[in-house]
Amino acid sequence: MEASKPAVITAVTALEILDSRGRPTVQATVALADGTIAVAGVPSGASTGSREAVERRDGDAARYGGLGVLGAVAAAGGEIADRLIGPAWRDLAEIDAALVALDGTPDKSRLGANAIVGVSMACARALARADGRPLWDWLTPPGVVQRLPVPHFNVINGGVHAPNPLDFQEFMIAPLGAPSFPEAVRAGAEVYAALRGLLAAKGYATGLGDEGGFAPQIAEPEEALELLVTAIGDAGYVPGRDGVAIALDPASSEFRGEDGLYRVAGQALSSNEMIERYAQITDRFPVWLIEDGLAENDWDGWAALTQRLGSQVQLVGDDIFVTNPAIIAEAISRGVGNAALIKVNQIGTVTETLAAVATCRDGGYAQFVSHRSGETTDTFIADLTVSSGCGELKTGAPARGERVAKYNRLLEIAASRPAMPYGLAR
Ligand code: PGA
Ligand code: ZN
Repeated sequence: MEASKPAVITAVTALEILDSRGRPTVQATVALADGTIAVAGVPSGASTGSREAVERRDGDAARYGGLGVLGAVAAAGGEIADRLIGPAWRDLAEIDAALVALDGTPDKSRLGANAIVGVSMACARALARADGRPLWDWLTPPGVVQRLPVPHFNVINGGVHAPNPLDFQEFMIAPLGAPSFPEAVRAGAEVYAALRGLLAAKGYATGLGDEGGFAPQIAEPEEALELLVTAIGDAGYVPGRDGVAIALDPASSEFRGEDGLYRVAGQALSSNEMIERYAQITDRFPVWLIEDGLAENDWDGWAALTQRLGSQVQLVGDDIFVTNPAIIAEAISRGVGNAALIKVNQIGTVTETLAAVATCRDGGYAQFVSHRSGETTDTFIADLTVSSGCGELKTGAPARGERVAKYNRLLEIAASRPAMPYGLAR
């Protein structure tokens, strides 16, 4: 991750562009003295954790309903540019530390996490390019074995990502048993096509949610799971860990009431009743991973869930851990979950993201690299996943340009390195 020679930044600029939901986001550009230029597009979530780094929005109701990012764009091209242009930076860590110090708040709310993360990603890309190495190689820490990840295709969308009555947010298919990354992509696309046919045959509309998955008018999670198992078989694959498994992100913080009850398809369930529901689901269906099965403030429930299912199922913390190394370290010490979702914009710099990955690795927690529901065609996370060696990534359906950009980037990396291993890190 070290630049071979100090990097001198000569320009930092930013632009207000659109994300995949049609909302404004930041695109940052960084230029180096050697002529290198690199660009980064910033993603944006909808089901955000309360402890995430804070996206700066203009709040001017006359523009984009208040969602404009002109303030963040001005911060990148103004204060941030003034700080970064000139010095000979030793490495990305030094640049990111300067960004964090310049902002001065614990949640990056002053300059805006969207401004900071865009510049951080563009700097990483520029330094890698100046070093003459692919980003995935340049980001790899010493001793880590690079891997092509199992792609987790989100093929049924619910929750706040779709207007249907489905409370669980994401139903993913994971070709754990595929022999290679390209074969995993093929399995994902074939099951997606089979699912479209199955939904149409059953009279469901095949409209899409924010991440490119279908958004049928169903409410019960078990019904969505039955459809997935059927579609996997229809496409000619075996449902399960040897073939195509299933992963869930209920994003349960979104349907837990102030009374502490979880509301699923009209039922109100306690934390323990939710755990029972997941136990039944994992008995009945080939679900290998559950993300945010319980809410971000239900740490006791999370510990009980981990006790109950942690030896059989990967339990990933997203809203609860927010890619924050300190929170992940606390979770590890308390036996909460056994894996962390990794989202660069949730913590706000590339260096802190790499620290979150390292905290997981050292503590025996798996890492699941992730896009956001609002995306650009930026493919940074594809390279990040390979560099971490974690072997698992979710970046939406095998459809829609901003989702397939990441899978296509991984196909390029796979083609350029035929010997690189594929699949879950063991
Ligand atoms: P978000 O959803 O990007 O809307 O936060 C993704 C997730 O919950 O994993
Ligand atoms: Zn999530």
